[in-house]
Amino acid sequence: MTISRRKMIALVGGGLVVAASAGAGGFAATRRPNAALAPWDTAGRYKDPRMAALSWAILAPNPHNRQPWQAELVGSDKVRIWREAARNLPETDPFDRQMTIGMGCFLELFRQAAAEQGFVAEMSLFPEGEQGPVADITLIDGGVSDPLFRHAVSRHTNRLAYEDRLPEAAALSAMAQEASDIITDPGRVETLRALTWDAMHIEMTTHRTQMESINLMRLGKRQINANPDGISVRGPLQEALMLAGLITVEGQSDPTSAEFAQSVSFIRAAQDATPAYVTVKTKGNSRLDQIEAGRRWLRLHLTATSHGVAMQPLSQALQEYAEQARLYAQVHEVLAAPGETLQMLGRIGYAADVGPSPRWPLETRMIG
Ligand SMILES: Cc1cc2nc3c(=O)[nH]c(=O)nc-3n(C[C@H](O)[C@H](O)[C@H](O)COP(=O)(O)O)c2cc1C
Repeated sequence: MTISRRKMIALVGGGLVVAASAGAGGFAATRRPNAALAPWDTAGRYKDPRMAALSWAILAPNPHNRQPWQAELVGSDKVRIWREAARNLPETDPFDRQMTIGMGCFLELFRQAAAEQGFVAEMSLFPEGEQGPVADITLIDGGVSDPLFRHAVSRHTNRLAYEDRLPEAAALSAMAQEASDIITDPGRVETLRALTWDAMHIEMTTHRTQMESINLMRLGKRQINANPDGISVRGPLQEALMLAGLITVEGQSDPTSAEFAQSVSFIRAAQDATPAYVTVKTKGNSRLDQIEAGRRWLRLHLTATSHGVAMQPLSQALQEYAEQARLYAQVHEVLAAPGETLQMLGRIGYAADVGPSPRWPLETRMIG
């Protein structure tokens, strides 16, 4: 079975091949995992304003789509937010830094969704210390709607190859409000292209980090609907490849397999097709810094979306495990001042929209 390189486009999600959904009409429609995508349609449709805000917040970006958040309604106007440790990614996120950033994305989207309903979400972060709940939130009257909020429903992580042109000046200057840096200089872009690829290759060829992704792979509609989280591999072409035995758990786990080699080249082709990068950095690296980084990242992604600019985090070089130490040091040398932490690094550019990723229904994330 030969697949043209143009049709196959790698998506990076811990290094797994996913093909572009080349419109296959009816087949595409029947393979859509509707149950897993339902939360995108039901967001906001709750009477209790806390539930309405939560139903938006669960659409936030988060590492490997683990959706680590849990929420507990308290009294009539409060909600307590937890992070579920069982959803951690100990190999690639040993200090839960990225999970905490994901919680920051969630809290910012909650804030915007509450504001849209006329509430200020007053947040007390880590009210019982870092081992306890992430936030206690009280809704009080008076929120002012945020113009970024209307882009929440069309914000998606886009892992396709991007066009060979920079985002327009208006988009770059809007994004500069939230980003720490936007890298457009061709020489620096080239440096980052090489560095981010090296880092991805390390993740893919380090058995335990690659397996962390493989174990979260959901292959096709049935698996995605059953477990609407992790790394979903879907779409008509992908399902054809799975049926043909060309996307398998075994092949993806074996760096000597032909399937693996093909993954590497597809992922590289997409990742290399990047005209510019963005960062979010912090001076410290406390839990509060990480939450703030997540809040900024969410606003940055919504700003990009509002300008039709696609975005994808490339987190591998930022990760704190031994095999990445050399690239961690390098990426900080290139992008950060001494003492600063690079919390997020992403690629930006123009590409076709990719549509939403799965979410667990809000009800399954409620506790208490
Ligand atoms: C802290 C953090 C790190 C992430 N790192 C990556 C990454 O390295 N590669 C990638 O493709 N996506 C990365 N993502 C994006 C998530 O995979 C994505 O948000 C999740 O799968 C949900 O999809 P969505 O953003 O389209 O809703 C990251 C997201 C966060 C918040």
